[in-house]
Amino acid sequence: MSDISIKNLSFAYEEGGKLILNDITTEINSGEFVCILGQSGCGKSTLLRLLAGLEMPTGGKITIDGEEIKGTSLKRGVVFQDYGLYPWMSAGENIMLALKQCFPSEDKNKLKEKALDMIDAVGLESEVYDKFPKELSGGMQQRCAIAQSLSTNPPILLMDEPFGALDAVTRARLQDLIKDLWDKEEEKKTVFFVTHDVDEAILLGNRILVLGQSPSHIIFDYKAKKDWELSRDNQFDDVEALKLRNELIKQINLDVKSKIK
Ligand SMILES: Nc1ncnc2c1ncn2[C@@H]1O[C@H](COP(=O)(O)OP(=O)(O)O)[C@@H](O)[C@H]1O
Ligand SMILES: [Mg+2]
Repeated sequence: MSDISIKNLSFAYEEGGKLILNDITTEINSGEFVCILGQSGCGKSTLLRLLAGLEMPTGGKITIDGEEIKGTSLKRGVVFQDYGLYPWMSAGENIMLALKQCFPSEDKNKLKEKALDMIDAVGLESEVYDKFPKELSGGMQQRCAIAQSLSTNPPILLMDEPFGALDAVTRARLQDLIKDLWDKEEEKKTVFFVTHDVDEAILLGNRILVLGQSPSHIIFDYKAKKDWELSRDNQFDDVEALKLRNELIKQINLDVKSKIK
């Protein structure tokens, strides 16, 4: 179980500062793959940071299974756009760092086996374990970051434009990887995936929230029907997907238009 409840959430970066988020209320059910769309600067990363426990609400609250978020937790894995690997450690050591933190009394060799399993699960060769981030391509680094965040099996995964810096082909491969890993899970993780790419949101999410701007609040909330199977092959033919795509673009554009005077 990892139900997230957001109630009347507001947030400003400093006391008395400009409100970034205002009156956000929503329930996210355990196992939902939620994509957050919105213009750059509208507060998507801020909302993710609040969910991660890196910032505290100015007003309202966020609870997970009834418990208020008090700080970061190993129960919430985070993947950022810039991969977030320590450059002075090998890829394997980066993954081991998370594993040792989560399982401090576990045998080191067992943990290394787990790290290697994760490297394999994200489609990388075992040699990558000893490579430093600078020796790896952006796509490989992001695969390692995903392996690191999944290695401790957190019930909630927070991803902030994780594929935003990658070329189109690598990006498509990693979208498929994340979708496959999530599809395969019996007990699905709750995923909170920030993107500004409408097609990425439609492909990955079974729930899509659009944030409006200044201050940001939810202007559109879409929940996919249970039996709606969308893939990269039918994404641009499926009538429902096309309707949804138009609606999402319309909502984002209307919001932008209302701010341009
Ligand atoms: N650490 C910070 N201190 C002050 N303002 C910030 C900080 N981080 C982001 N902001 C501001 O908050 C707003 C929302 O930013 P952000 O959440 O990064 O938006 P998004 O991820 O949607 O692009 C922006 O106006 C940004 O300038
Ligand atoms: Mg952002």
